[in-house]
Amino acid sequence: MKRRNFIKRASLTGVGIAVGNTLASCAENTSEEAKASQIIKKTSLPLVISTWEVKNATAKAWEVLQSGGSALDAVEQGCNVEESNVINQTVGKGGLPDRDGNVTLDACIMDKYGNCGSVVYLQNITHAVSVARKVMEDTPHVMLAGKGAEQFAISKGFQPEELLTEASKEAWEKWKVKAKYKPIINIENHDTIGMLAIDKGGDISGACTTSGLAYKLAGRVGDSPIIGSGLFVDNEIGAAVATGLGEEVVKTVGSFLIVELMRQGKSPQEACEEAIGRIVSKPDSNYKNFQVGYIAVNKQGETGSYSIHKGFSMTKYQDAKNENLQSEHYT
Ligand code: GLY
Repeated sequence: MKRRNFIKRASLTGVGIAVGNTLASCAENTSEEAKASQIIKKTSLPLVISTWEVKNATAKAWEVLQSGGSALDAVEQGCNVEESNVINQTVGKGGLPDRDGNVTLDACIMDKYGNCGSVVYLQNITHAVSVARKVMEDTPHVMLAGKGAEQFAISKGFQPEELLTEASKEAWEKWKVKAKYKPIINIENHDTIGMLAIDKGGDISGACTTSGLAYKLAGRVGDSPIIGSGLFVDNEIGAAVATGLGEEVVKTVGSFLIVELMRQGKSPQEACEEAIGRIVSKPDSNYKNFQVGYIAVNKQGETGSYSIHKGFSMTKYQDAKNENLQSEHYT
């Protein structure tokens, strides 16, 4: 049996991935697999889900998918909408700066083959997610950081521009007056934009983009450019993406965890809940003071979302219907 088939079988039958006993079970479970495939709900494709209420961005991705575009193009172009939206102070142009007044962006993208690209601490370039895609497609690397990432972007034709808007500068100056380093995680509105899509061909891609924690220490990087933490896609199983306090997502490698839980038979909803459970159940967890939220989709097009606190939502386009769904939450 090819390794990939083995992994798929493990997922469909709910069998764990421990090699010793599972190989034996696989042989017996052909009829189980047939039963499992019968009960898989056939979901209509394409579909796209996003963290938070980002209607315009999700609508753009939907437009790409509807016209037969790939999931990869959809998530990139969808995220681009929010990166250009200066009203949204957590992503792209107009993002809130670090404590020294510098806007620094993190983003990543992953395609149906498991290829990925990422940018870290990118300055002066609005469309971080598109630079991440160029890293994935035009270099042998996965991640570029700082000046190197900026120079690479410029070499690929991205125009440098000032990302600190008057509104974000004003907010930063007000924060400075208080002169106290207290990161803000907005639990009611936006944070990282994460987007997962399945195209008409049934292939999955994902992306996420952020200006990171407002007024962070210079040089701080969160989960969003870290493959497996902020985002993970396995085209045979599903995908997950995170929003909220990146440090907590990194410590639990949240998105990879969710995909692996789905591989073992959990629904996207159950997997998101368990990933949040890993954070809140730590003996020293300070979860009352921060937000983390996940969204996930499996290969069958079932979706899930869960957060620590109330206020997180998922935007979903499917069957020409768009919905903003308040997430279930822990507290
Ligand atoms: N989730 C965004 C960050 O922590 O930077």
